[in-house]
Amino acid sequence: MSDPADFSRPADDLPGEPTSPWLATTPDASYPPLEADLTVDVCVVGAGIAGLSTAIELRDRGASVVVLERDHVAAGTTGKSTAKVTSQHGLQYDQLHREFGSKAARQYATVNEAAIDTIEERIASLEIDCGFERQPSYLYGNEPDALRREADAAQRAGLPASLVRSVPPFERAQGAVKFDDQAWFHPRRYLLALAEWLHEDDDAAIYERTRVTAVDPGTRPRVRTPSGTVSANHVVLATGFPLLDRAGYFTRLYPKRSYVLAVRLGVDPPEGMYYRAGDNYRSVRTHRDAQGALLLVGGENHKTGQGGPTRERYQRLLEWATDRFPIEGVEYRWSTQDYVSVDGLPFVGRAGPGARNVSIATGFGGWGMTGGTAAGELLAESITGTDPPVLELFDPLRFTPKPSLPKTLTENADAASQFVTDWVQALVAPDLAGISRGEGRVIRQGASPIAAARDGDGDLHTVSAVCPHTACLVDWNDAECTWDCPCHGSRFTPDGRLLEGPATEDLSPVDPDR
Ligand code: FES
Repeated sequence: MSDPADFSRPADDLPGEPTSPWLATTPDASYPPLEADLTVDVCVVGAGIAGLSTAIELRDRGASVVVLERDHVAAGTTGKSTAKVTSQHGLQYDQLHREFGSKAARQYATVNEAAIDTIEERIASLEIDCGFERQPSYLYGNEPDALRREADAAQRAGLPASLVRSVPPFERAQGAVKFDDQAWFHPRRYLLALAEWLHEDDDAAIYERTRVTAVDPGTRPRVRTPSGTVSANHVVLATGFPLLDRAGYFTRLYPKRSYVLAVRLGVDPPEGMYYRAGDNYRSVRTHRDAQGALLLVGGENHKTGQGGPTRERYQRLLEWATDRFPIEGVEYRWSTQDYVSVDGLPFVGRAGPGARNVSIATGFGGWGMTGGTAAGELLAESITGTDPPVLELFDPLRFTPKPSLPKTLTENADAASQFVTDWVQALVAPDLAGISRGEGRVIRQGASPIAAARDGDGDLHTVSAVCPHTACLVDWNDAECTWDCPCHGSRFTPDGRLLEGPATEDLSPVDPDR
């Protein structure tokens, strides 16, 4: 196999090491790949916070469990999170109150607050050194009425919420909604310890570098990989986009990317963590390390594969941070991908018709630390006993309330129009010469769209531009040097190797001289 393409030099002008502090400061675990057929009670796909939380809860209830991970434990979305452990999820409670009712808002608040406690208890009982700290969380903005409504809805949902003025210290704002007793931590240290604890049990096992290629639902579902099949009574898909779509998730779930810089400050960081609501959100929290404190500044989100050059997003984030903080240097930069449902609630529960014994956990919208932890407990309870009443709120087959319906239709139309537009553009585009180093373009070769990218040595890499999931065309991500699919968020290296699903295959190789 040839060496992977080197796209590091074209990205050199971006600041910081291209990884999260969580991934930079922890080694990968070394669980083996699956190499035999297995039979267990429950097979969990995905070793992020939702998958491992589910596996632990199942094991605690006496089920035998196996976890299959395409990459490494907590190397995906969880390892790239800003790792705020909070019930404050943007302007969530006012919307929940209006669209789903006060009971739903209370239920949502209760499961997320319980998830913070669960994480804290696990850390204490296993003595995990992961920087868990209780901190206040502030949602700030310049729309006083919206903030007042949010504070009011959160209080009625039973949360420790109050409306405060004079925050944040680094930006002008009309006020903020403060939640007391929220938390932050180092997510990978937490999950590596949970994985170790799980793997020690005779009735549990983790397999890394194991790509799931198909899930056969049925009375006794099977999970297929290139090197073994797992038969189980139940399967949990704790991946971004469900590998099995029996309920039209492609119309109700969309991928979004967001960006984070970890900057070293010349002064003490502000206390607490912050979130500026709105389309162009900003997120701020501190992470303490051996050198002092890093400030994590996040934002600039957009739909995957759409929204223009991604390098500019890092640059805008840096400008924003530089205008507000005395920055000594940027230590890390990274981006991540989350899935968002059209009505703003996660999908946790049975996957759909004909898949009674397959469950999913996704759509946390960037709030997976509490959402994934809560999903683990709810799914384990449901699989080994009876459905907790709150599961109805997260039912993947739930009726979408009217206010969200236009968004469902828009998402649907958006994916469809992206599909058509990209194909038309590719098929009318002439062959393009002069792709520069670090650049990628979809060009035409005969009647076929191919994805061509030039690496730091000047070599051209060409693969099919057709995503193997459902045939949308991939788009070049110039900050990460990846091919990203705008329809459901699959991502690939410049050589076409699959980085994240729902696709289960690589992009097909193409000979540029054909
Ligand atoms: Fe669905 Fe690419 S991820 S078509």
